[in-house]
Amino acid sequence: MIDRLLRRRVILTLGKGGVGRTSIVRAISLFAARRGMRTLIMETDPRRPIADSYGRMPGLEPVVLEQPHLWSLFLGGRESLEDYLGLVVPRPILRKVFASSLYQRFVNAAPALRELTMMGKIYHEIERRPKNKPPWDLIVVDAPASGQALGMLRMPFVAHQVFGGGLVAAEAAKVAEFFRDPAKCAIVVVTTAEPLAISEALEIHHGLEGLRLATSGVFFNRTSNGTFEASDVDRMVAITSGNSRLRHVQQIAEIARADLRRRVKERRALGIVQRHIAAPVAIVHEHLDSSERDLAAAMANEFCR
Ligand SMILES: Nc1ncnc2c1ncn2[C@@H]1O[C@H](COP(=O)(O)OP(=O)(O)OP(=O)(O)O)[C@@H](O)[C@H]1O
Ligand SMILES: [Mg+2]
Repeated sequence: MIDRLLRRRVILTLGKGGVGRTSIVRAISLFAARRGMRTLIMETDPRRPIADSYGRMPGLEPVVLEQPHLWSLFLGGRESLEDYLGLVVPRPILRKVFASSLYQRFVNAAPALRELTMMGKIYHEIERRPKNKPPWDLIVVDAPASGQALGMLRMPFVAHQVFGGGLVAAEAAKVAEFFRDPAKCAIVVVTTAEPLAISEALEIHHGLEGLRLATSGVFFNRTSNGTFEASDVDRMVAITSGNSRLRHVQQIAEIARADLRRRVKERRALGIVQRHIAAPVAIVHEHLDSSERDLAAAMANEFCR
């Protein structure tokens, strides 16, 4: 799955809050950068957790991270809009516009325009990157959580309804066409085995279908690392029966049983995902006791297998 994803120019990760979208973005981009691909991470979380873990706090301009071939920028709605306007309106006029209270009211009242320019920014970094700047091999976008991300993704497809015909709609149509091109863009869904995460993953998938966008893959995150079987637990119980000095083995058997129950739930949840989403699923294990950067490295190593 990862090899297929890396053939695209943009990978967008969607999923319920807290399922591990940022961690998956970290891992995919680290994996790509290690392969020598010029990789740009676009963070939509204002805390910029990925850049922050490298001690950086980028704005709209890409900054290099302390990892060869890896850059990061912040994809803020308001900032992207101002950046975009900067391309079409002369600077002195723009400064006055930004300072005006009318503009302040306008941007706050126009989430649609902000969402559209976020999508436009991704498109521009691939398709309209100035000739004097080296192109990105890959952009990995850490999209906001479910609802907000779908709102952002939807915008180029409905822009003509919101903004009418004309320049904005024409621009949006190009952006929409870009995101619908399966050779260029991959949209992946991240989930855990938790029921709410699964139900949001399916909702996202159906939301994408409604926009005629395909789900290119699912990252099924935080699965158990346990490898023992029920027979191992039975054996532990058998050797401890009647031997009080082996109480610790009994305790281990109890932990093992809990993990077996967890794995049964995970398999069921995985079955639901596979029945509803016809896309490859990558299983990602839970890696405890690691820093965010170690976690990304452990996940990236998993992708190699
Ligand atoms: N496979 C994993 N193993 C262990 N911990 C993980 C794993 N995946 C994610 N986590 C941890 O879960 C927490 C949430 O992960 P992350 O921040 O990537 O999720 P998110 O979907 O981006 O959340 P948010 O909605 O807040 O942006 C983090 O502390 C992260 O370290
Ligand atoms: Mg996040």
